[in-house]
Amino acid sequence: MSTLLDLPRFIEDAPVAGAFSAQRSGTHPAVVFDNVGKVFSGRTGTQAALANVRLDVARGEVFGIIGRSGAGKSTLLRLVNGLEKPTSGGVRVNGVSVGELDERALAGLRRRIGMVFQHFNLLSAKTVRENIALPLRIAGAPKAAIDAKVDALLELVGLTAKRNAYPASLSGGQKQRVGIARGLVHTPDLLLCDEATSALDPETTQSILALLRDINRRLGLTILLITHEMEVIREVCDTVAVLERGEVAETGAVWRIFGDPQHDATRALLRTLVHDLPADLSARVRPLSDIPHGDAQILLDVRFNGANGEPDLGGLAQALGVEGGKVNFVHGGIDRIQGHAQGRLVVTAQLKSGTGDAESIHTQIATLVNGARRYANYVEVLGYV
Ligand SMILES: Nc1ncnc2c1ncn2[C@@H]1O[C@H](COP(=O)(O)OP(=O)(O)OP(=O)(O)O)[C@@H](O)[C@H]1O
Ligand SMILES: [Mg+2]
Repeated sequence: MSTLLDLPRFIEDAPVAGAFSAQRSGTHPAVVFDNVGKVFSGRTGTQAALANVRLDVARGEVFGIIGRSGAGKSTLLRLVNGLEKPTSGGVRVNGVSVGELDERALAGLRRRIGMVFQHFNLLSAKTVRENIALPLRIAGAPKAAIDAKVDALLELVGLTAKRNAYPASLSGGQKQRVGIARGLVHTPDLLLCDEATSALDPETTQSILALLRDINRRLGLTILLITHEMEVIREVCDTVAVLERGEVAETGAVWRIFGDPQHDATRALLRTLVHDLPADLSARVRPLSDIPHGDAQILLDVRFNGANGEPDLGGLAQALGVEGGKVNFVHGGIDRIQGHAQGRLVVTAQLKSGTGDAESIHTQIATLVNGARRYANYVEVLGYV
């Protein structure tokens, strides 16, 4: 396996330095989308793909853009390397307006930006080595420099043993490792990934995301990736922007967006990760208007957004277990995102023997909920069980 620490300093001396390298350093964000709009016009009419997109991608971060199919993700990514032109606003890469570059400068910019695709886009008649080497060969780099670079990249992505294999004999994950190596061949300082893991199974996805994270950390490479899976965002991104119908619904640090989503589009995307009430419980829940006679427990939805430290379950249990009433955690879980413990727990708490007295029951419930709110960001009574 590759030991990234042993990686030769191939990031220093790209054999083909682009016209762009002069502007690389400095304090500019890696990418700025400055009020970008994009309308496609064709014979069948116009299609607004992006509107009012303002985003800053900081240097060295992994920035994720998530949205449903057709939200405009690929279009946004293609604006960065000038494959598409905005119809309004502008895109700056390292402080340089992409729209103002002439053909030669644009070619230089594209060499400084690596790209990784969902379907790998490998040449089937060429070996792993040749696939990675091709962009350097086209750029006219000397053979010795190409060999050294390709060896370093093979090591980096853990594919040295497969260097002479053809793509047809590789697994999906291995193909994507070749795709990533090829994306890094010009020593970019920005890597664009368009659904790089969407064609992969969950385990392979994890290993590719871990590789991207490693590359980001060890090479200081800024990564802008698009995906429709929140899991990808959670695993690898520092910052996320949620794109909905071509507009930014919300953006921020990943743990904040996960812990306290503001927009319906975000909540919809998060649904795959939240612990919804299981069917057996939801079948048993009775509404609050249904005042119980005899023993009853209330079912509570308790949420932690990660902003106030780690959930204090002892405190929560004490607040809900007044006078020795039983408190059970029946469903849910806590995730740790960027060092913030957050999640949702579904909890039951015992009410004192019901007399059918609505006022007494509601007072008890209010006391329990108020107590629980001292330990959680959000507490809602779902009903009785
Ligand atoms: N070349 C084009 N001509 C006309 N319309 C286009 C073109 N490219 C994209 N669109 C339209 O722009 C919108 C955004 O497309 P885009 O490919 O950016 O979405 P996406 O978020 O990447 O979707 P997916 O998740 O399916 O890849 C869509 O409505 C699409 O039909
Ligand atoms: Mg797309």
